[in-house]
Amino acid sequence: MVRVRFIQHDGTEQVVQGEVGSSVMQTARDNLVPGIIGDCGGNCSCATCHGYVDPAWLDKLEPRDENEELMLDGAMDTESNSRLTCQIKLTPELDGIVVRLPVSQT
Ligand code: FES
Repeated sequence: MVRVRFIQHDGTEQVVQGEVGSSVMQTARDNLVPGIIGDCGGNCSCATCHGYVDPAWLDKLEPRDENEELMLDGAMDTESNSRLTCQIKLTPELDGIVVRLPVSQT
């Protein structure tokens, strides 16, 4: 299992565990983490799974692909470390990854 630490915009933290190969978005949904909606089910077409990956973890991730870039272009309050969490698949190397959540989802 891979641990994911979610930090809400108000500072509330929740550490949950997800399966290797599952996405950060699915892990959040499976553990009822508020703030990650995942309307499109992980098809990179809604941006309701937007989160900010802690900069210390960015190098461990595959870069955004073109679809993710396009969806983030239309999302609110994006930053350089914004990612669609449905596009982040859990690997053992990501154990402990930190994802902060925006105030609102698009
Ligand atoms: Fe829709 Fe990630 S769940 S873009």
